[in-house]
Amino acid sequence: MPLPVPVLPEGVDPAWLPPAAFRSVGGRRTLIRGSGPLVETVHGEVADACRRFGGRVVRGAEPGDGAYDLVLDLGVHDLGDEDYTVAREGGTTTVTAFGGRGLLYGLFHLVRLGEAAFSGAWTPKTHRPALTLRMLDHWDNVAVHPVMGQVERGYAGGSLFWEDGRARDELDRVRAYGRLLAACGINALSVNNVNVHATEARLLTDRLDEVAAIAGALRPYGVRTHLSVSFASPVMLGGLPTADPLDEAVRGWWAEATRRVYEAIPDFGGYVVKADSEGQPGPFAYGRSHAEGANLLAAALEPFGGTVHWRAFVYDHRQDWRDRTTDRARAAYDHFVPLDGEFADHAVLQVKHGPMDFQVREPVSPLIGAMPRTRLAVELQVTQEYTGQQRHTCWLGPMWSEVLRFRIQQGSTVGESARGGLVAVSNVGDDPFWTGHPLAQANLYTFGRLAWQPDAEPGAVLDEWIALTFPDAPARLADGLHAVLDGSWRTYEKYTAPLGVGFMVQPGHHYGPSVEGYEYSPWGTYHFADRDGIGVERGVTGGTGFAGQYGTPWAELYESPKTCPDELLLFFHHVPYGHVLKSGKTVVQHIYDTHFEGVEEVEEARAVWASLAGLVDPARHARVTERYEEQLRSAREWRDQVNSYFFRASGVPDERGRRIH
Ligand code: GCU
Repeated sequence: MPLPVPVLPEGVDPAWLPPAAFRSVGGRRTLIRGSGPLVETVHGEVADACRRFGGRVVRGAEPGDGAYDLVLDLGVHDLGDEDYTVAREGGTTTVTAFGGRGLLYGLFHLVRLGEAAFSGAWTPKTHRPALTLRMLDHWDNVAVHPVMGQVERGYAGGSLFWEDGRARDELDRVRAYGRLLAACGINALSVNNVNVHATEARLLTDRLDEVAAIAGALRPYGVRTHLSVSFASPVMLGGLPTADPLDEAVRGWWAEATRRVYEAIPDFGGYVVKADSEGQPGPFAYGRSHAEGANLLAAALEPFGGTVHWRAFVYDHRQDWRDRTTDRARAAYDHFVPLDGEFADHAVLQVKHGPMDFQVREPVSPLIGAMPRTRLAVELQVTQEYTGQQRHTCWLGPMWSEVLRFRIQQGSTVGESARGGLVAVSNVGDDPFWTGHPLAQANLYTFGRLAWQPDAEPGAVLDEWIALTFPDAPARLADGLHAVLDGSWRTYEKYTAPLGVGFMVQPGHHYGPSVEGYEYSPWGTYHFADRDGIGVERGVTGGTGFAGQYGTPWAELYESPKTCPDELLLFFHHVPYGHVLKSGKTVVQHIYDTHFEGVEEVEEARAVWASLAGLVDPARHARVTERYEEQLRSAREWRDQVNSYFFRASGVPDERGRRIH
């Protein structure tokens, strides 16, 4: 039986799957061959398109039995589960796949192509994902947290999954979410926050049925469910005196708990663990290594084919700001590189893309190139914690693309090194636009597509998102959307913390400027600005040695301010305000100029958006307009605080005599 397409609750935006995006797939004579649950999903999709746009679907016949415009054929045996081959010959477009996911992804491929999927003739081409795991981590709490709320670092309302302290009864929206994720290639999702509080810990045991219900809603679109668990579960939930990974009773407890999970969710993906990090429990308490900790869970998951995603975000969050020898940027490498080769096959080490914490500009984490005998997953942040909190337009495609294409080790890019997959913190909530800022949908879509193909051209992905989301857009609208999104990350960088130095945000919630907000805090995030200069000396000579964690050529390049790229200069070096950048400007003049430019660029983008009124539906237009007002207010605040701070610190006037306070 074809599975009906999930119904969007009243008022919820269809994002990149509006009915009109299926116009070209509807109106055809379609043959579907093969069986299995995802084939029913595919059938449901095509049937829905036919209902809207005409055409009909036949199941099971031989391709020669009639004339078909489209054949979706499951059962070719030399392809992987997610691969598909598309071809067009004699007026018939064919998708062949071996696995149900492949067939579904092939169908969405045709949706992206639109009319082009049904014209001309093309030779067969096989598409396969570069990374087998393309995953979202939801930092959702089941119970509203007194400080972090329902969704930690969430800017799109409440949780899609949890409400009033339990899983939602009505999961239509979750089904529709799974569909959106499949359409951009995402195939795994973790349903709760990496900071596992008391209520959420119980999802693993007595509240497992709630997780199973969510897994059931995501499954028809090929999205596997994962769970964040507490390392202390055997103590918290099992009443054991210890959670020591080498203790037999502890191993037995995890084995049994995991067996029950698979009983309830046979295709369960595995666990996500934040251990010995920002107060979460971990193996250090028992004098054990992180490999021993991770392998405990890997052993429990292995019989069922599951994986533990063990996060490498381990650092001292109680640092003394007076101590200049400890460098948070070094921490992940220092903790984990000595363990290379010790992690079990079913353990994946999940590494944030930068060495600090999702800043607008960071170097790539040196850990990514330094553990050849470990399966690594790279973690990005789609939720805009440090990039405008979905009040600012900030499309992160170019940043992620730079990261993924970066040649971290000889011959390998970050995308190629991420053998354990690409993971991102989701930016979605129960907001009618899914992401609070309607244009932030582009970030989620782009993440999925880059996880499928890390060397994809981000601008082309953006245009794909525009074409799907606004299927009938006149050129003026498509160009306008491209214009306001394409450069928005660099604009954001211009009016916030300069030259890779990071932070300068208000402590706690991390929105808006506070130049010294974290300067005397225990979090290890400092810039050391004084009257003479600014930046963190991270060279091997005279610095924290962080630059030495890279291989050739990066270690040498970052070591000297002469060769260090401008955009990372203050991340790697403390320099005088008069230091001349490769651009020919002094550091302080660069700060002034970029901050004035950043605000001007927001003003321009706002004007472009205003000119699109009438081409975008009124609710969406109004929502983005309101966000631009706030972005402009905030950008001006950033500009004035940052410029005034450095003018006062340095005493150096702006060459162009602009107003600084
Ligand atoms: C950031 C973020 C936290 C989050 C942490 C993590 O520090 O501010 O809210 O818990 O990252 O990735 O674990």
